[in-house]
Amino acid sequence: MHILQITDPHLHGRADRQVRGVSTDTSLRSVLGTALAQFPDYEALLVTGDLVQDDSGGYARLRGICSSLRKPVLCIPGNHDDPATMARELCAQPFQVCGARGFGAWRVVMLDSCDPGKVGGRIDAAELARLDEELERCDGHALVCLHHHPVAMNSRWLDGIGLANAAEFWRIIDSHANVRGVSWGHVHQAFDGRRGGVRLFATPSTGAQFAPGSEHFAVDGRPPAFRHYELLPDGHILSRVHWVAGPGAPRPAAPRPAPPRPPPPPPAGARGPRRPPPPARRRAEGPSRASTAAGGRHPCLHLREPRLLHRREQGIQPRTRRRASLDRTAQQRTVFPAD
Ligand SMILES: [Fe+2]
Repeated sequence: MHILQITDPHLHGRADRQVRGVSTDTSLRSVLGTALAQFPDYEALLVTGDLVQDDSGGYARLRGICSSLRKPVLCIPGNHDDPATMARELCAQPFQVCGARGFGAWRVVMLDSCDPGKVGGRIDAAELARLDEELERCDGHALVCLHHHPVAMNSRWLDGIGLANAAEFWRIIDSHANVRGVSWGHVHQAFDGRRGGVRLFATPSTGAQFAPGSEHFAVDGRPPAFRHYELLPDGHILSRVHWVAGPGAPRPAAPRPAPPRPPPPPPAGARGPRRPPPPARRRAEGPSRASTAAGGRHPCLHLREPRLLHRREQGIQPRTRRRASLDRTAQQRTVFPAD
């Protein structure tokens, strides 16, 4: 049984709005298109909160993007959502807000962890009681989903806005042997852990990500993503995050290529092989006086070298002739006169 998870799309009513430099509408469409193309046989799409960025117009946008899907779209609210408005806006097929849904041997239980007016989360007494009842009723395997993280993410600022009553949540989870996994959004980063026999999953946003392990708020340069779950009949879970680079994705600055390393200087006194300077330098600087005086480095003189050797063989003083040729070259920039 295959489930796709997207989270924290932070949609606005307008398509051209951005959150932390990412066009949330474009980015969500890109991630969803990739996910559905890669896993066409999925059973449900899970959306774990922050569907909108404090803009109820974003729910209509989500309807526009997902209403043609033939599979259930299972939604839970996040701290940027208004749970009542969300339930009202997403009341028709294929959407389901909170509650629970069975898929063969599995049951997906969706919790509302929103604490009104706060960024951090809390599951109220009624919702905790419902969780207990859902797990009691489940005779197969359970995957529990909420928006806020119920374990530390080793990030000081994020761990201050997690699930405030995580101990109460875990007390209920621990009292049922059928919970195989707990999944959340909110942290905008990937996490794959374990608490006893329960797998723990955090999923990156379909927009901008937060830097893992950071002391203070920091945006990460990683691209949008979705998560795929394969829920096996024996209760095992196979899961992986899929990063989607594409339209709307933040683009980290490309690393600059390292400048070419100059050749090591020859040892003092040694005559290593002569290397012509790179073409750009030759055009910019022209032949230097030193290289010309040394003989053989100027292209014209180099071509004339065999002729100089021929003169030397005939007993003509090469030094005089060569000096004369060098002087002419320097003054007139002409080739050696014909013999
Ligand atoms: Fe979020």
